[in-house]
Amino acid sequence: NGGGQDAKNLRVKLVLLGDSGVGKSCIVLRFVRGQFDPTSKVTVGASFLSQTIALQDSTTVKFEIWDTAGQERYASLAPLYYRGAAVAVVVYDITSLESFNKAQYWVKELQKHGSSDIVLALVGNKADLHEQREVPIQDGIEYAEKNGMFFIETSAKTADNINELFEEIAKRLP
Ligand code: GTP
Ligand code: MG
Repeated sequence: NGGGQDAKNLRVKLVLLGDSGVGKSCIVLRFVRGQFDPTSKVTVGASFLSQTIALQDSTTVKFEIWDTAGQERYASLAPLYYRGAAVAVVVYDITSLESFNKAQYWVKELQKHGSSDIVLALVGNKADLHEQREVPIQDGIEYAEKNGMFFIETSAKTADNINELFEEIAKRLP
């Protein structure tokens, strides 16, 4: 690599958690394929996708992404996916206070049962629907700060902050 001693190839297990309908699968589809599906189907069990990004110091990060099912009936499967994950991305929908409360439940579960060095990100998705906002951005910022998490608002629909989400996670890897 021309003597670039910092160049590394990392492989990172990442899990997405959050209420059904918050847009987890759409975030992944936007990140991996650059597409948006307005008729996205609910995820059954979980789905797996991977995507590699290059950082400025020529490090590459291959994200192995477990997109979990948010419906309550699948909640007991979650540990299968977050166990051993280096990164957990907890997603809520900024137009749903209920989904923000559910996100806090997942954060607590990860703090109790996830790896002790897990990198946690809190994502407020559907930022394009600001006219229907129920969760003030400040509430997301404060909750994330209190819990040592990275925070960002995204839109899978407009692609706003989707690449940034994964780039910022990559920078925070131990
Ligand atoms: P489960 O698989 O059941 O856990 O749901 P999910 O979190 O994967 O939700 P999904 O990605 O399937 O998206 C649910 C709905 O929200 C779909 O109709 C999407 O088109 C819509 N959606 C997702 N992201 C956005 C967004 O950023 N903006 C808007 N306006 N709609 C979105
Ligand atoms: Mg899904």
